[in-house]
Amino acid sequence: MSTQPIELAAPLAPLAASRPTYLMCPPRLYDVNYVINPWMAGNVHSSSRERAAQQWHRLYEALTEVADVELVEPQPGSPDMVFTANAGLEHHGIVALSSFFHAERQAEEQHFRHWFQDAGYTILDIPRETPFEGEGDALFSTDGTRLWAGHGPRTTAASHHYLSKIWNVEVVPLHLIDPRFYHLDTCFAPLENNYAMYYPQAFDASSLATIEAFYPPSKRIIINEPDATRFACNVINIDRTIILNDISRELTDQLEDHCFHVVPVSLSEFLKAGGAAKCLVMRLSAAKVGTATSSS
Ligand code: ARG
Repeated sequence: MSTQPIELAAPLAPLAASRPTYLMCPPRLYDVNYVINPWMAGNVHSSSRERAAQQWHRLYEALTEVADVELVEPQPGSPDMVFTANAGLEHHGIVALSSFFHAERQAEEQHFRHWFQDAGYTILDIPRETPFEGEGDALFSTDGTRLWAGHGPRTTAASHHYLSKIWNVEVVPLHLIDPRFYHLDTCFAPLENNYAMYYPQAFDASSLATIEAFYPPSKRIIINEPDATRFACNVINIDRTIILNDISRELTDQLEDHCFHVVPVSLSEFLKAGGAAKCLVMRLSAAKVGTATSSS
């Protein structure tokens, strides 16, 4: 018999019916220890753990206003574990576990595997030969009908067919061409009410055309370079609420004009590692579903 508490009576609650759940990792062991993206260059050991903790807690507080949060324990030797978006991609109780491109992050895979196992998820592995960096590079459209999937700097295009097979979903590849925007969630965000925020220069011409074929001009929120480098696209969007790093007044006004409620949280310490609000969370659409069903 399982020792886990049974928290859900029914297998799968529809997404919109309940408060969403996210996975976060406290920044007790966060640091910039190596350079695997351009933001980390010149920032090795330059972040303040105290300030990082304050910023992370503000993000946690803002998020728990509108969502539930599960926590995974940080582990020695994995300073980037705070960026739980890269743990994998979860949907309907199944986790496609990340297979990190850089050796520096590969130790995280076992830690996240244990957490997902203990929480009762079904885990599917993506082979080492075809790196895949989880939700950092794979974002469902808000209606769930397609999976936008980045490739280039980290995730390989060859990993995408595993995703379409796992969930029988249309996977739309987007080629990332600017090393500063090395994960899809650094330059693209599908938003509620079928809006999208994106930094056009991060994509090759055909990927940009794909995005713009899906989103009509009235639904496009185009991000300029100064806001893009503030990680403006790296948002957590729950209904009308958008939680993100500090951005320009102009962009805040624009989002408010589209009826979004903007919640800025300064995340400067995490920008030094190349991440912000969205990188620090992973969406769990079916928390502990496996636990509930396997125990019944
Ligand atoms: N230092 C981390 C890396 O380079 C940052 C990860 C940011 N995560 C994200 N989902 N964009 O892998």
